[in-house]
Amino acid sequence: MASKMLAYVLSTFLFLLQLHFSAGQSVVKAAYWTPRNEFPVSSIDSTLFTHLFCAFADLNPSTYQVTISSSNSAQFSTFTQTVQQKNPSVKTLLSIGGGGESKASTFASMATQPSTRKSFIDSSIKLARANNFHGLDLDWEYPSTKEEMTNFGSLLNEWRAAVAAESKSSGKAPLLLSAAVFYSSDYYSLIYPIQAISNTLDWLNVMAYDLYTPFAKNSPTKTGPPAALYNPTSKVSGNAGVRAWIQSGVAAKKLVLGLPFYGHGWRLVNANNHGIFAPANGAASDELGYGGIKDFITQNSATTVYNSTIVTDYCYAGTTWIGYDDTQSISTKVTYAKGKGLLGYFAWHVGADKNFALSQTASRAWGA
Ligand SMILES: *[C@@H]1O[C@H](CO)[C@@H](O)[C@H](O)[C@H]1NC(C)=O
Repeated sequence: MASKMLAYVLSTFLFLLQLHFSAGQSVVKAAYWTPRNEFPVSSIDSTLFTHLFCAFADLNPSTYQVTISSSNSAQFSTFTQTVQQKNPSVKTLLSIGGGGESKASTFASMATQPSTRKSFIDSSIKLARANNFHGLDLDWEYPSTKEEMTNFGSLLNEWRAAVAAESKSSGKAPLLLSAAVFYSSDYYSLIYPIQAISNTLDWLNVMAYDLYTPFAKNSPTKTGPPAALYNPTSKVSGNAGVRAWIQSGVAAKKLVLGLPFYGHGWRLVNANNHGIFAPANGAASDELGYGGIKDFITQNSATTVYNSTIVTDYCYAGTTWIGYDDTQSISTKVTYAKGKGLLGYFAWHVGADKNFALSQTASRAWGA
């Protein structure tokens, strides 16, 4: 009798434990951190987040192993411990890759063969465990042929299987797996491997920004809303992207909406013609962090505008025009994400905020 009782209690316990691991996240309020702008990890107000991404680990182009550069190793290896001082329940993910064509081509060649995929997968798991991360994030920008999309799917399937096997043998909770993806499931008429994504990833970081930039291949001759939520003139918008992902078959609960804590600057052709889609003459500056934009506004007494149709902010002074997200755009987007049943939001990147104004706005807009 007693042993039957014990068996029952034990099986209930194991069931609940399993439920705990498979239930997934209830919300993702996240941001990336990068050493790029020298914003110290210890300064992050981690109480505003459920998850923090440490960016980036690198992919070795000859061995296809994931590595942390020696200049980053001190900050990366203590990242989790440091951010958990203010918020013991915050989870951390090591993000691999990032933008740039040479990284994209290294990802593409790694993903072609089972053996090179295995190098990537095994080394990534080892690196995450050795540096105390709770998960891994793949930032391949972007798989850009049909074969690369297929190989991306194979990589995800094998990665999830390896993560599950490692969890079984180590007895630890499985590593979280996420990927940062294009704003739409349709990447210039190539469709992401939806089935593999749905089966393997805990969530997708939807990069709903850089939709309009002053760069040559994008919109150098017209200003634009860099991270439009809606777009009266085309399908280039965060909302259109989210809808495309859902229509392709990815559950809303797997989508995390990207928020830019930075903007893009254009040079106006005519200082008196300063609307959205006004004639422009290329970039006025490099990509600008939110803090830098706020300083620019103060120093130049720039005019600021919130456009609620598109959900973007912009400012202008003389012939400089900057499109960005201020608190109104951020809170409208977070309310949108929650209303659509998405899993949450993430920001690129926390160090570009100004005194956590945007991070706080986002956290409050989502609510507890
Ligand atoms: C926002 O900008 C678009 C494009 O210029 C314009 O059509 C729309 O009227 C603006 N919305 C508001 C509320 O000003």
